[in-house]
Amino acid sequence: MRVIVADTYEDGAKAAADVIEKLVREKPDCTLGLATGSSPVGMYKELARRCSEEGLDFSKVHSVNLDEYVGLEPTHPQSYRYFMDDNLFDHINIDKANTYVAKGTGDVDANIREFNDILAKTDIDIQVLGVGPDGHLGFNEPGAVLYELAHKETLEDSTIDANTRFFASRDEVPRYAVTMGMGSIMKAKTLLMIINGNKQEAARKLLLENTIDPMCPATFLRLHRDAVVVIEKKLADEIGYKQ
Ligand code: GLP
Repeated sequence: MRVIVADTYEDGAKAAADVIEKLVREKPDCTLGLATGSSPVGMYKELARRCSEEGLDFSKVHSVNLDEYVGLEPTHPQSYRYFMDDNLFDHINIDKANTYVAKGTGDVDANIREFNDILAKTDIDIQVLGVGPDGHLGFNEPGAVLYELAHKETLEDSTIDANTRFFASRDEVPRYAVTMGMGSIMKAKTLLMIINGNKQEAARKLLLENTIDPMCPATFLRLHRDAVVVIEKKLADEIGYKQ
Protein backbone atom coordinates (compact mmCIF):
# COMPACT_ATOMS: atom_id res chain seq x y z
CA MET A 1 0.00 0.00 0.00
CA ARG A 2 1.28 3.44 -0.90
CA VAL A 3 0.22 6.04 1.65
CA ILE A 4 0.20 9.75 0.86
CA VAL A 5 -0.19 11.99 3.90
CA ALA A 6 -1.63 15.31 2.72
CA ASP A 7 -1.28 18.49 4.78
CA THR A 8 -4.82 19.61 3.99
CA TYR A 9 -8.01 18.30 2.35
CA GLU A 10 -7.16 20.39 -0.75
CA ASP A 11 -3.64 18.93 -0.95
CA GLY A 12 -5.13 15.45 -0.71
CA ALA A 13 -7.60 16.30 -3.48
CA LYS A 14 -4.70 17.40 -5.71
CA ALA A 15 -2.62 14.30 -4.93
CA ALA A 16 -5.59 12.06 -5.77
CA ALA A 17 -6.30 14.07 -8.94
CA ASP A 18 -2.65 13.51 -9.96
CA VAL A 19 -3.19 9.74 -9.84
CA ILE A 20 -6.30 10.01 -12.06
CA GLU A 21 -4.69 12.54 -14.43
CA LYS A 22 -1.66 10.29 -15.03
CA LEU A 23 -3.96 7.43 -16.06
CA VAL A 24 -6.22 9.58 -18.26
CA ARG A 25 -3.20 11.06 -20.10
CA GLU A 26 -1.54 7.66 -20.57
CA LYS A 27 -4.74 5.79 -21.43
CA PRO A 28 -7.40 8.19 -22.74
CA ASP A 29 -9.99 5.40 -23.09
CA CYS A 30 -9.56 4.16 -19.52
CA THR A 31 -12.38 3.13 -17.19
CA LEU A 32 -12.74 4.86 -13.86
CA GLY A 33 -14.60 3.34 -10.93
CA LEU A 34 -16.08 6.29 -9.08
CA ALA A 35 -17.33 6.97 -5.56
CA THR A 36 -19.64 9.45 -3.89
CA GLY A 37 -19.42 11.09 -0.47
CA SER A 38 -17.65 14.23 0.65
CA SER A 39 -14.16 12.67 0.53
CA PRO A 40 -13.75 12.68 -3.29
CA VAL A 41 -15.58 15.99 -3.92
CA GLY A 42 -12.36 18.06 -3.80
CA MET A 43 -10.68 15.68 -6.25
CA TYR A 44 -13.63 15.95 -8.63
CA LYS A 45 -13.45 19.75 -8.43
CA GLU A 46 -9.74 19.65 -9.19
CA LEU A 47 -10.27 17.29 -12.14
CA ALA A 48 -12.95 19.63 -13.52
CA ARG A 49 -10.50 22.54 -13.23
CA ARG A 50 -7.78 20.57 -15.00
CA CYS A 51 -10.27 19.65 -17.74
CA SER A 52 -11.33 23.24 -18.40
CA GLU A 53 -7.99 24.99 -17.79
CA GLU A 54 -5.36 22.39 -18.68
CA GLY A 55 -7.00 20.33 -21.40
CA LEU A 56 -7.35 17.10 -19.42
CA ASP A 57 -9.53 15.16 -21.84
CA PHE A 58 -12.29 12.83 -20.63
CA SER A 59 -14.01 12.43 -24.00
CA LYS A 60 -13.06 8.75 -24.32
CA VAL A 61 -13.21 7.84 -20.62
CA HIS A 62 -15.82 5.37 -19.32
CA SER A 63 -16.97 5.17 -15.72
CA VAL A 64 -18.91 2.94 -13.40
CA ASN A 65 -20.00 3.93 -9.91
CA LEU A 66 -19.79 1.94 -6.72
CA ASP A 67 -23.34 2.17 -5.50
CA GLU A 68 -26.79 3.76 -5.46
CA TYR A 69 -29.55 4.13 -2.89
CA VAL A 70 -32.59 1.92 -3.37
CA GLY A 71 -35.72 4.02 -3.81
CA LEU A 72 -34.23 7.27 -5.14
CA GLU A 73 -34.90 8.37 -8.71
CA PRO A 74 -31.84 9.62 -10.63
CA THR A 75 -33.38 13.10 -10.45
CA HIS A 76 -33.48 13.03 -6.62
CA PRO A 77 -30.79 15.47 -5.36
CA GLN A 78 -29.42 12.83 -2.97
CA SER A 79 -29.26 10.03 -5.53
CA TYR A 80 -25.74 9.09 -6.50
CA ARG A 81 -26.51 9.63 -10.21
CA TYR A 82 -27.47 13.21 -9.39
CA PHE A 83 -24.35 13.57 -7.20
CA MET A 84 -22.05 12.41 -10.01
CA ASP A 85 -23.64 14.71 -12.59
CA ASP A 86 -23.55 17.64 -10.19
CA ASN A 87 -20.03 17.13 -8.83
CA LEU A 88 -18.20 15.85 -11.88
CA PHE A 89 -19.89 14.84 -15.13
CA ASP A 90 -21.54 18.22 -15.79
CA HIS A 91 -18.12 19.91 -15.44
CA ILE A 92 -15.94 17.70 -17.65
CA ASN A 93 -16.14 16.63 -21.28
CA ILE A 94 -17.14 13.03 -20.54
CA ASP A 95 -19.89 11.48 -22.67
CA LYS A 96 -22.61 10.70 -20.12
CA ALA A 97 -23.64 7.73 -22.24
CA ASN A 98 -20.32 6.22 -21.13
CA THR A 99 -21.06 6.67 -17.43
CA TYR A 100 -22.94 4.07 -15.41
CA VAL A 101 -24.58 4.44 -12.01
CA ALA A 102 -26.77 1.50 -11.01
CA LYS A 103 -30.51 2.18 -11.00
CA GLY A 104 -32.08 2.68 -7.58
CA THR A 105 -35.74 2.38 -8.54
CA GLY A 106 -37.84 -0.25 -10.29
CA ASP A 107 -37.07 -3.96 -10.07
CA VAL A 108 -34.13 -4.22 -7.65
CA ASP A 109 -33.17 -7.75 -8.73
CA ALA A 110 -33.14 -6.71 -12.40
CA ASN A 111 -31.05 -3.66 -11.50
CA ILE A 112 -28.53 -5.87 -9.70
CA ARG A 113 -28.37 -8.26 -12.67
CA GLU A 114 -27.74 -5.32 -15.02
CA PHE A 115 -25.04 -3.96 -12.67
CA ASN A 116 -23.29 -7.34 -12.54
CA ASP A 117 -23.52 -7.76 -16.33
CA ILE A 118 -21.83 -4.39 -16.80
CA LEU A 119 -19.15 -5.20 -14.22
CA ALA A 120 -18.45 -8.57 -15.87
CA LYS A 121 -17.69 -6.73 -19.13
CA THR A 122 -15.67 -3.93 -17.52
CA ASP A 123 -12.02 -3.73 -16.50
CA ILE A 124 -11.74 -0.90 -14.04
CA ASP A 125 -8.36 0.82 -14.20
CA ILE A 126 -8.69 2.89 -11.03
CA GLN A 127 -11.39 2.45 -8.42
CA VAL A 128 -11.88 5.53 -6.26
CA LEU A 129 -12.98 4.76 -2.71
CA GLY A 130 -14.08 6.67 0.34
CA VAL A 131 -14.70 4.86 3.58
CA GLY A 132 -17.66 4.88 5.92
CA PRO A 133 -17.12 5.59 9.63
CA ASP A 134 -17.81 1.85 10.19
CA GLY A 135 -15.21 0.91 7.58
CA HIS A 136 -17.66 0.20 4.75
CA LEU A 137 -16.53 0.36 1.12
CA GLY A 138 -19.21 1.49 -1.33
CA PHE A 139 -22.08 0.15 0.75
CA ASN A 140 -20.39 -3.13 1.72
CA GLU A 141 -21.26 -2.99 5.38
CA PRO A 142 -19.24 -4.84 8.04
CA GLY A 143 -20.33 -8.44 8.56
CA ALA A 144 -19.11 -11.97 9.25
CA VAL A 145 -19.23 -12.56 5.50
CA LEU A 146 -18.84 -10.11 2.64
CA TYR A 147 -20.16 -10.38 -0.92
CA GLU A 148 -18.17 -10.87 -4.09
CA LEU A 149 -20.65 -9.38 -6.56
CA ALA A 150 -23.11 -6.50 -6.71
CA HIS A 151 -25.99 -6.99 -4.30
CA LYS A 152 -28.51 -5.23 -2.09
CA GLU A 153 -27.36 -4.11 1.37
CA THR A 154 -29.30 -3.09 4.44
CA LEU A 155 -27.62 0.03 5.74
CA GLU A 156 -26.20 0.05 9.27
CA ASP A 157 -27.62 2.53 11.77
CA SER A 158 -24.26 4.33 11.84
CA THR A 159 -24.38 4.70 8.03
CA ILE A 160 -27.91 6.09 8.18
CA ASP A 161 -26.77 8.48 10.94
CA ALA A 162 -23.72 9.58 8.93
CA ASN A 163 -25.79 10.24 5.80
CA THR A 164 -28.67 12.01 7.59
CA ARG A 165 -26.82 15.30 7.10
CA PHE A 166 -27.70 15.21 3.41
CA PHE A 167 -31.46 14.71 3.95
CA ALA A 168 -34.20 16.81 5.57
CA SER A 169 -34.57 14.19 8.32
CA ARG A 170 -33.25 10.75 9.34
CA ASP A 171 -36.54 9.18 8.22
CA GLU A 172 -35.85 10.22 4.63
CA VAL A 173 -32.51 8.37 4.42
CA PRO A 174 -32.99 5.19 2.37
CA ARG A 175 -32.58 1.94 4.36
CA TYR A 176 -31.22 -0.07 1.42
CA ALA A 177 -28.66 0.35 -1.34
CA VAL A 178 -27.24 -1.60 -4.25
CA THR A 179 -23.48 -1.79 -4.21
CA MET A 180 -20.58 -3.29 -6.10
CA GLY A 181 -19.33 -6.30 -4.13
CA MET A 182 -15.89 -6.66 -2.60
CA GLY A 183 -14.73 -8.97 -5.41
CA SER A 184 -15.52 -6.41 -8.11
CA ILE A 185 -13.77 -3.69 -6.12
CA MET A 186 -10.67 -5.83 -5.58
CA LYS A 187 -10.46 -6.65 -9.32
CA ALA A 188 -9.73 -3.02 -10.21
CA LYS A 189 -6.12 -2.56 -11.31
CA THR A 190 -5.55 0.28 -8.85
CA LEU A 191 -7.49 1.29 -5.74
CA LEU A 192 -7.41 4.95 -4.76
CA MET A 193 -8.81 5.60 -1.29
CA ILE A 194 -9.33 9.09 0.07
CA ILE A 195 -9.76 9.10 3.82
CA ASN A 196 -10.40 12.07 6.07
CA GLY A 197 -12.81 13.33 8.70
CA ASN A 198 -14.13 11.13 11.51
CA LYS A 199 -12.72 7.85 10.20
CA GLN A 200 -10.29 7.21 13.09
CA GLU A 201 -11.32 3.61 13.72
CA ALA A 202 -11.25 2.56 10.06
CA ALA A 203 -7.98 4.43 9.42
CA ARG A 204 -6.35 2.83 12.46
CA LYS A 205 -7.38 -0.68 11.40
CA LEU A 206 -6.28 -0.06 7.82
CA LEU A 207 -2.94 1.60 8.50
CA LEU A 208 -1.78 0.34 11.88
CA GLU A 209 -3.04 -3.23 12.23
CA ASN A 210 -1.97 -6.44 10.56
CA THR A 211 -5.43 -7.93 10.04
CA ILE A 212 -7.94 -8.36 7.23
CA ASP A 213 -11.19 -7.86 9.05
CA PRO A 214 -14.64 -8.31 7.42
CA MET A 215 -15.96 -6.18 10.27
CA CYS A 216 -13.94 -3.36 8.67
CA PRO A 217 -14.13 -3.89 4.87
CA ALA A 218 -11.59 -1.09 4.30
CA THR A 219 -8.87 -3.46 5.60
CA PHE A 220 -9.23 -5.48 2.37
CA LEU A 221 -7.11 -2.78 0.72
CA ARG A 222 -4.16 -4.49 2.38
CA LEU A 223 -4.67 -7.47 0.04
CA HIS A 224 -4.45 -5.40 -3.14
CA ARG A 225 -1.27 -5.18 -5.22
CA ASP A 226 -1.69 -1.53 -6.11
CA ALA A 227 -3.57 0.42 -3.48
CA VAL A 228 -3.00 4.12 -2.85
CA VAL A 229 -4.34 5.73 0.32
CA VAL A 230 -4.55 9.52 0.56
CA ILE A 231 -5.02 10.52 4.19
CA GLU A 232 -5.30 13.96 5.68
CA LYS A 233 -2.46 14.79 8.13
CA LYS A 234 -4.92 15.70 10.88
CA LEU A 235 -6.42 12.21 10.78
CA ALA A 236 -3.00 10.54 10.43
CA ASP A 237 -1.83 12.43 13.54
CA GLU A 238 -4.97 11.52 15.48
CA ILE A 239 -4.33 7.81 15.01
CA GLY A 240 -0.56 8.14 15.48
CA TYR A 241 0.32 7.06 11.94
CA LYS A 242 3.90 7.88 10.92
CA GLN A 243 5.49 7.16 7.55
C1 GLP B 1 -21.39 6.67 1.60
C2 GLP B 1 -20.90 6.02 0.31
C3 GLP B 1 -19.47 5.55 0.46
C4 GLP B 1 -18.61 6.66 1.03
C5 GLP B 1 -19.13 7.03 2.39
C6 GLP B 1 -18.29 8.05 3.12
O1 GLP B 1 -21.75 5.74 2.54
N1 GLP B 1 -21.72 4.92 -0.07
O2 GLP B 1 -18.97 5.11 -0.80
O3 GLP B 1 -17.28 6.24 1.11
O4 GLP B 1 -20.45 7.56 2.18
O5 GLP B 1 -18.65 9.34 2.79
P1 GLP B 1 -17.84 10.63 3.17
O6 GLP B 1 -16.71 10.70 2.22
O7 GLP B 1 -18.84 11.74 2.98
O8 GLP B 1 -17.40 10.49 4.58
